[in-house]
Amino acid sequence: MKNTWRFGQIEFDRIREVLDSGFASGTTGNLNNRFEAMVAEKESAQFAISMNSGTSTLHAALYAAGVGYGDEVITAPLTVISNLDVIISMNAIPVFADIDPETFNIDPEDVARKITPKTKALMPISLYGLSCDLDPLMALAEEHDLVVVNDAAEAFGATYKGRPIAEIAHITSYSTENSKHITTGEGGVVVTNDEDLALAMRKFGSLGYRVNQAQDGRVRSHKDIFQDPTYKRHDTLGYNYRLSEVAAAMGLAQAERLEEFIELRIKIAEMYLEVVEGCDYLVPQLVPEGYNNTYWTVAMRYERGDVSWQDFRYKYTDLGGDGIYAAWALLYQEEVFTSDNWRAHCPPLYQDLHYPATGMCPNAEAVQPKIMQFVNNYGSVDEAAPKVDALRQTIEYFK
Ligand SMILES: Cc1ncc(COP(=O)(O)O)c(C=O)c1O
Repeated sequence: MKNTWRFGQIEFDRIREVLDSGFASGTTGNLNNRFEAMVAEKESAQFAISMNSGTSTLHAALYAAGVGYGDEVITAPLTVISNLDVIISMNAIPVFADIDPETFNIDPEDVARKITPKTKALMPISLYGLSCDLDPLMALAEEHDLVVVNDAAEAFGATYKGRPIAEIAHITSYSTENSKHITTGEGGVVVTNDEDLALAMRKFGSLGYRVNQAQDGRVRSHKDIFQDPTYKRHDTLGYNYRLSEVAAAMGLAQAERLEEFIELRIKIAEMYLEVVEGCDYLVPQLVPEGYNNTYWTVAMRYERGDVSWQDFRYKYTDLGGDGIYAAWALLYQEEVFTSDNWRAHCPPLYQDLHYPATGMCPNAEAVQPKIMQFVNNYGSVDEAAPKVDALRQTIEYFK
């Protein structure tokens, strides 16, 4: 399946602008600024900072949150490895809170149980397009003076109790990697309403330029100032996570079409949901009252004991389905973590930390092997219809 339907004249036009500009860089051009402004506006945030991945944005977010040596960061184990990697990169300690088995998102009650005096930040994930339960997480953050970084890599356009999610957490991070609602190939964008957090992330994602600004990624100062051998440019560490102007041009074009992409994913998700209505062993991710799921993918719990997960998938693909994606292994069950490879990052801090192989997050351990994710990233409902019908036929077959 080719996803060429995702790119049209508008993407070509925006990329042409970059080429016509003489191929500006992320520090001189304006496509990044325009992409950021559009995401900020559409996600209802004041500041947006584009970067080269949704992992970079999480890394910058933890830096801005002040996470450092020995601090604890609470996250859910049912997520991509990025969440673990960025915690370790800050020399911080990952703490895993369980998920709600119905929404698949982090359980605020378990988060509350896992807060200690060392906790510095919460990094919930808004999984598969559904916001995490933000109100109790923000209340915990208020009570314990924590920063909440909502990893909404998969949740462009999601709302929580009628509010855009970016209005709520201190920082909200999105990915524009190829499978996401909008794409720059690889990329990410992080938003906040706090200027200090925005500036810290801007500097971290740039090269820590003294003249970096929260609002504007271009690095500017008067020639008489910087064309001087005594000029000092950098006052903080930075990792050059900037997005190229060509990628930002793609991002701008895609962001202009954000509603179109979201609407289509939701429509196709609803087609799958209709097919599983009344099927007692395929239990869709619960969307609580007042939330909107923007369905990066259509996730369900497969609860059937007599037909294996894999046999169900084989039959589905035999019947014309596009395949079923499994959930990632839990973070603490991934080889990087169980093999102790991560401890080499900071031996004095990590060598004496011990995590049990099982039992830390029982709901996540029970749910992860059951998750089936159905593809809804199609160009039209007509293209999706035979895939959805393959699911109907599979259910019929295993009646
Ligand atoms: C939940 C989640 N967090 C973070 C990321 C990281 O984003 P990226 O692949 O852009 O680094 C992804 C995407 O892969 C994701 O799905």
